[in-house]
Amino acid sequence: MHIVFAASECVPFAKTGGLADVVGALPAEIAKLGHQVTVYLPLYARIRPRIEPKIGQLAYAVRSVTVPFRHYSRFAGIVDGGKQNGVQFYFVESQELFDRPELYGPNGGDYPDNAERFGFFCRAVLEAAKQLGVPEVFHVHDWQTGLIPVYLRTTYAADPVLRHAATVLTIHNAAYQGLFPPATTEQLLFPWDLFTMDKVEQYDRFNFLKGGVVFADQLTTVSHRYAEEIQTPEFGWHLEGVLRGRAADLRGILNGVDYGHWDPATDGNLAAHYSADDLEGKRACRADLLHAFGLNAVPDSAAVVGIVSRFATQKGFDIVAAIGEEMAKQDLVVVALGTGEPALERFFRGWAERHPQKIAVQIRYDEALAHKIEAGADLFLMPSRYEPCGLNQIYSLKYGTVPLVRATGGLDDTIEEWDAKKGTGTGFKFYGYDPRDLLEELDRALAAFQHKKSWTRLMRNGMAREYGWDKPAREYAEVYAEAARRRG
Ligand code: ADP
Ligand code: GLC
Repeated sequence: MHIVFAASECVPFAKTGGLADVVGALPAEIAKLGHQVTVYLPLYARIRPRIEPKIGQLAYAVRSVTVPFRHYSRFAGIVDGGKQNGVQFYFVESQELFDRPELYGPNGGDYPDNAERFGFFCRAVLEAAKQLGVPEVFHVHDWQTGLIPVYLRTTYAADPVLRHAATVLTIHNAAYQGLFPPATTEQLLFPWDLFTMDKVEQYDRFNFLKGGVVFADQLTTVSHRYAEEIQTPEFGWHLEGVLRGRAADLRGILNGVDYGHWDPATDGNLAAHYSADDLEGKRACRADLLHAFGLNAVPDSAAVVGIVSRFATQKGFDIVAAIGEEMAKQDLVVVALGTGEPALERFFRGWAERHPQKIAVQIRYDEALAHKIEAGADLFLMPSRYEPCGLNQIYSLKYGTVPLVRATGGLDDTIEEWDAKKGTGTGFKFYGYDPRDLLEELDRALAAFQHKKSWTRLMRNGMAREYGWDKPAREYAEVYAEAARRRG
């Protein structure tokens, strides 16, 4: 089969979160299964230097495809990014729309023309595929590419080359839906009968993700637990009804992780390497991490609590803020790396200023430092309000860094509560979205940390878990086959 991935992020080209890790790894696994795989991405400003052999020179696969709007047309160049690990990459170029410093907008917000940017991207991918190869299945991700199934079944419904292409939509986060004014319908040249509550309309907004949910042949999301959760009002963000209506076509497939990038035995970002058999190097990683954060004379008894995150409401740091002062009194230090919502950045900065010996924060995006935290910390904190899958806790397991998580979505699916008596489990979980529950679980974790022998057992339990991409890739291949069969 030929599978075309269309997405707004992909490692190593452009990343704001886990979506990029998934789109950076899954296509190559699908290719390994013997399928032809193509990935389309927007040509953001930050990608240009990576793919220009000479400054200002790009290799075009198609010089121009046309995307009409109401009063004008836009044109996309389709840049050939070559083949990597058996996967063909193409970049959709529009200087006006994508040559900007951010992917989506400043300070975790949105550019005002995001409907046009991603509507354009979706249609440009379809036009490009007509020239470069129509796949059996388009695999699209989140709201940014949610209009591909919509275009295929409306604007392009009669197109002799596209009409048989099937679609699979993966929901990485149901809270980000791409909501725009009703006039988006006309702007993107859709008929007004699309703007109804059984199609793309939601509370008088044009909803990109809903369009994808309604029109895609098959739906997936990134953990079993989240597949159930998004069918409830708490996690469905008003899409629970339409998702329940499609429950028969919705499957949870837990993300894998790329151990080529995330393995303490080979990770090039670390001060020392280590593995479950020989944990010695982790001590050097801990010292290196504390040095990187300017924390001196931290005793061995103090647990190093790591955080690497987008600072977004989803991630639950408001309950950390509520117990920040109590946490600072305990036998621990915190090393946090993240960027995002200004209020959360302010909280982290203030917390560190009040407790310079114990709380250290770096407000930025830093790939190498993220790896150092995974390796050098003792505990990894993810108190998420909701978490579709979550990758950091899975990385943590591999690095012998014990996750402390809230039991939601993929965090609940991947972390098993530590039972000191039986010596089973991989981490610590709390249930209520409540600062007291977090504090109690943290106390349990800190107490367990004092028992070095059983703590080592706990670390090794996590390090023995395997979350490679081979199993999820086979599950996706089944979903592609089902989508193609139904469309066939
Ligand atoms: P989400 O996609 O919701 O942000 P995930 O846990 O799935 O959450 O993925 C987050 C990814 O982004 C991880 O690979 C993590 O290491 C990375 N990441 C998040 N913030 C930063 C940062 N400030 N610096 C480096 N990496 C980061
Ligand atoms: C989203 C989710 C995160 C998930 C990632 C990759 O960003 O917030 O939980 O791991 O997508 O699927």
